[in-house]
Amino acid sequence: MSLLKIGFVSLAALVGATEQLGSIKRQTTQLRSSYDFVIVGAGTSGLTIADRLSQALPSKTVLVVEYGKVENCPGPFDPPTNWLEPADSASRWVFNSLPSTEMKNKTAFVTVGQVVGGSSCINGMFFDRGSRFDYDAWTDAGGPELAGSDVKWDWKGLFPYFKKSVKFTKPSPSVAQKYGYTWDESAYGGSTDINSSYPLFQWADQPVLRDGWEEMGIKPVKECAGGDKEGICWVPASQNPVTGRRSHAGLGHYANVLPRSNYDLLVNHQAIRVVYPKGPQSGAPILEVLSRGDGTKFNITAKAEVIISAGALHTPAILQRSGIGPAAFLRDAGIPLVLDLPGVGSNLQDHSGPPVNFNYTNPPDFFPSPAAMLNATFKADAIAGFNETPARGPYTLSLGNSAIYVSLPHMNPQYATIIAKIRNAVSSGAAASYLPTEYRSLPAMVSGYNAQLLTLADLLSNPQAPNLESPWATSHISPATTVWSFLLHPLSRGTVRLNLTSPLSQPLLDYRMGSNPIDFDLHTTGLRFLRRLLDTPTMKKYGATEVSPGAAIAGDDAALVEYVKDQIILSFQHPCCTAPMLPKGRGGVVGADLKVHGARGLRVADMSVAPLLVGSHTSATAYAIGEKAADIIVKEWKKPGH
Ligand SMILES: Cc1cc2nc3c(=O)[nH]c(=O)nc-3n(C[C@H](O)[C@H](O)[C@H](O)COP(=O)(O)OP(=O)(O)OC[C@H]3O[C@@H](n4cnc5c(N)ncnc54)[C@H](O)[C@@H]3O)c2cc1C
Ligand SMILES: *[C@@H]1O[C@H](CO)[C@@H](O)[C@H](O)[C@H]1NC(C)=O
Ligand SMILES: *[C@@H]1O[C@H](CO)[C@@H](O)[C@H](O)[C@H]1NC(C)=O
Ligand SMILES: *[C@@H]1O[C@H](CO)[C@@H](O)[C@H](O)[C@H]1NC(C)=O
Ligand SMILES: *[C@@H]1O[C@H](CO)[C@@H](O)[C@H](O)[C@H]1NC(C)=O
Ligand SMILES: *[C@@H]1O[C@H](CO)[C@@H](O)[C@H](O)[C@H]1NC(C)=O
Ligand SMILES: *[C@@H]1O[C@H](CO)[C@@H](O)[C@H](O)[C@H]1NC(C)=O
Repeated sequence: MSLLKIGFVSLAALVGATEQLGSIKRQTTQLRSSYDFVIVGAGTSGLTIADRLSQALPSKTVLVVEYGKVENCPGPFDPPTNWLEPADSASRWVFNSLPSTEMKNKTAFVTVGQVVGGSSCINGMFFDRGSRFDYDAWTDAGGPELAGSDVKWDWKGLFPYFKKSVKFTKPSPSVAQKYGYTWDESAYGGSTDINSSYPLFQWADQPVLRDGWEEMGIKPVKECAGGDKEGICWVPASQNPVTGRRSHAGLGHYANVLPRSNYDLLVNHQAIRVVYPKGPQSGAPILEVLSRGDGTKFNITAKAEVIISAGALHTPAILQRSGIGPAAFLRDAGIPLVLDLPGVGSNLQDHSGPPVNFNYTNPPDFFPSPAAMLNATFKADAIAGFNETPARGPYTLSLGNSAIYVSLPHMNPQYATIIAKIRNAVSSGAAASYLPTEYRSLPAMVSGYNAQLLTLADLLSNPQAPNLESPWATSHISPATTVWSFLLHPLSRGTVRLNLTSPLSQPLLDYRMGSNPIDFDLHTTGLRFLRRLLDTPTMKKYGATEVSPGAAIAGDDAALVEYVKDQIILSFQHPCCTAPMLPKGRGGVVGADLKVHGARGLRVADMSVAPLLVGSHTSATAYAIGEKAADIIVKEWKKPGH
């Protein structure tokens, strides 16, 4: 009964109205003979672009090709809250990475959305932005070519698109007062349909951790989305402020903007590759797609451009199948070389980190705390509340709404030693040996990596640039007695490569976590800092006792590194950076205009173009990338002569 209800509610939530389902294309026979713009992937960035292009260029046609379906996308924190095995596994891909040898052969468990809305449809709804320094670092890592480009991707260049990409609704005075929410509307101002708002529910023990954080000397920040966020943050949710439901790209940039006669969406089709019959300079490529229904292949003609927005894990796979990638790999794969771009599928980054676990000998006795979910009556009411309109109760919280973001200098007075190690690794040439073997002899890849490390050395020295995030993610089934130490700016780099025994199936992820050993200094710094929480008067009052890493190994660096290797979670679901916006001479795949180096009529726009991982969860950045990409494309096609 409740399952049926959930299914029904999600269906209605996604498509808005049943007639809009009718506009979905399910077979290539339903398509027009050609389109001006063909976008691969109906995800966070891709649908933002499709909406903006079809709106701004009404005489041009836009097609989005999506691998997944449109009907349903339950979130990982929706009831019954079993995010390892969600109610609807068909709305996502599951990846198990290759083992990371430096992390005791641990594999990363990574999921991404496989549905209209992409990962915005299945994520934790934690809706934050990186700090200004994170985006300034993108331009720094690109050197003069990016800094001197007309289009700027630093904070100043991106902030207007962050603003444009969401509509923030402030909480009512009573809710704001009840929970202590703070904000500054000057960080927002968009009129888009993608909502950012604060939930109407918080657990009663929510203030405990915030008090502890303040006692650690971490300062509350009034608004963390305006570029400056070192401190304690309230983080809004990507949530409809009226209904309390998920606000995602499938709604805000598709269902809610229909009908629009120049905007088509083809579901259940896999983009295999782009094909340039006359070479990569011959104009927009053909997009070859495969029907997941009947297994037939079909070529779609794009008159203007193909834009690949398949996300950080699939975008490089599509490029590699197209013969755009590292020459040596493509040769071994037997794929004819179209463009030698070794950066395709390089530079894989993600947030990772170990936990600090504790227990309370004198637990705070607030009602309701997450422990209330063990009470069957309370839990049943929480599930019922989630399915009401407006939704109410614990499940509207999703991942949670608070976090601390702390810089390296604020965590570790000896931080300069770590910075010196990073710089020495570059000057001694050791850094190159941390790259995958196939890249060590490629000057562009080495110089690009060195430039990234020098940029990160500056970033990490900045007391205003966070390098640790610890979200207070309440577990819905037990008291929150774990805090995670996310490393925001990792130094190690991984790869994404086609699986050569099955090139159409999911690519292989090799995270190579810990391959740059200085990451262990950053991890242990985060751990040492975070465990100090338990020494605060608030936590002591409740008898907080560290269970792990545990007092026994507190002072011992080697033991703490072992602990990291044993306990680390390799992916917090933020893979990025695998088709980086960097000059070709620095291992880049796209330029500041997002065009693939050396190709015509082909761009990439999604989390894969970020050169460096940002210090935040990634959906807000994916929306901003989509907004900025759309603006660049619209401006270009509105120029006289086009
Ligand atoms: C479980 C989970 C929790 C997360 N939690 C948060 C959070 O709380 N807050 C936050 O900000 N971020 C979170 N993220 C991350 C964030 O949602 C993503 O980084 C962001 O949405 C990625 O946007 P994108 O446009 O790059 O790709 P996506 O939104 O993933 O879109 C890619 C689209 O391309 C499609 N596609 C792929 N290959 C093909 C192909 N060959 N042919 C056709 N279509 C294809 C996919 O099906 C998908 O729809 C989470 C992610 C996950 C998976
Ligand atoms: C990791 O796997 C490799 C290859 O299978 C093996 O040689 C090595 O001993 C493993 N390391 C650990 C710590 O298990
Ligand atoms: C955003 O919230 C408004 C107000 O409730 C709603 O009308 C709109 O549909 C929401 N959009 C999305 C994408 O959730
Ligand atoms: C698509 O076009 C390319 C180049 O002309 C061709 O090689 C390929 O076979 C075509 N695919 C289909 C399904 O028609
Ligand atoms: C269980 O939850 C219900 C509903 O909130 C509440 O009325 C009841 O007191 C709780 N029972 C216990 C033992 O806490
Ligand atoms: C590659 O694909 C094959 C065929 O689907 C599969 O059996 C194999 O497990 C994949 N390889 C890896 C490393 O996942
Ligand atoms: C808390 O953890 C400590 C350390 O592991 C243990 O000795 C103690 O028994 C635990 N206390 C409770 C209440 O679980």
